[in-house]
Amino acid sequence: MTDDLPAIAADAKSRIAAAGNAAALEALRVELLGKKGRVTELMKTLGGLAPDERKARGAALNVLKDELSAALDARAGAVREAELDARLARETIDVTLPPRPLADGRIHPISQTIDELTAIFGEMGFSVAEGPDIEDDWYNFTALNIAAEHPSRQMMDTFYIKGLSKDGAPKVLRTHTSPVQIRTMMSVKPPIRVICPGRTYRSDHDATHSPNFHQVEGLVIDKAIHMGHLKGCLTDFCRAYFEVADLPLRFRPSHFPFTEPSAEVDIGCSRKGGELKLGNYGDWLEILGCGMVHPKVIANCGLDPEEWQGFAFGMGIERITMLKYGIPDLRTFYEADMRWLKHYGFLPLDVPSMTGGLAR
Ligand code: PHE
Repeated sequence: MTDDLPAIAADAKSRIAAAGNAAALEALRVELLGKKGRVTELMKTLGGLAPDERKARGAALNVLKDELSAALDARAGAVREAELDARLARETIDVTLPPRPLADGRIHPISQTIDELTAIFGEMGFSVAEGPDIEDDWYNFTALNIAAEHPSRQMMDTFYIKGLSKDGAPKVLRTHTSPVQIRTMMSVKPPIRVICPGRTYRSDHDATHSPNFHQVEGLVIDKAIHMGHLKGCLTDFCRAYFEVADLPLRFRPSHFPFTEPSAEVDIGCSRKGGELKLGNYGDWLEILGCGMVHPKVIANCGLDPEEWQGFAFGMGIERITMLKYGIPDLRTFYEADMRWLKHYGFLPLDVPSMTGGLAR
């Protein structure tokens, strides 16, 4: 092996320049400058030299050592940069590409509507509350001021199921989402603003009734809440959901045991030529029930009706979905037919609208 320093330097520098990664550079550093490295070994030979010679050669060796060390550092920096550049190039994301279409799978129109109405009520300050599908008789009926002998207990054609509530009454599959009103008033300190979307059950089955369907309940409890708030809230909701800016609403007096006064709400439409259009056309279509929460219901939940009032409403999610997206038969919602879902379902990035929701 040569001990000609310029030759050693030239050879080492060309090898350093050729090293392509951090591991190769580290191996070179050990080979050249490590404890048993080439330069270190040469340093050890200094002891056998005459003083003058030792001084000159020692200085030359130190220069060599510094040069190689600097060359190794510079190359390591360059290698790091090159590796980073390669990674940046490899991991580039083109944010201008359109999203890839999903091969299969759609968002079910029921889920889509729940998302839409949650967004609309969310902007009005409502949050979402949930309750169980299997309810105690008390939450579903009694607390809502529906007396034991009240015809609505039969009218609703309830599914009673095995299992007893705490008070010994049979368990029921909830016939509406109104029991979530009760659960909310009993667990949350007012003011309250919630919507409660969820599954509901009645033993009906035909083209417009399914034994399992969905409702969304709304409940506002606060001080000095009146019918004007109810009307404004539902008007804003219907106009936003159906995307008809001047959609007229008609509040018709009605009866529910849990609200007083109670109203049924119709939206303006036209049925001319067998085609349903929503808007100010003089005809009406019923879509929901509502009213001011009955003082007895408020008291049943342990609140003072002299201090707290509010309004509630409930509507069928299938019904407003069918209306908005032109789905003719309720039963098709539950058939799990992929052709139906491909046609009526939604992609995650769809922006649905009355006119554009299904246009794909
Ligand atoms: N629970 C009623 C129904 O199922 C709807 C409703 C809810 C009416 C809240 C008034 C207030 O028909």
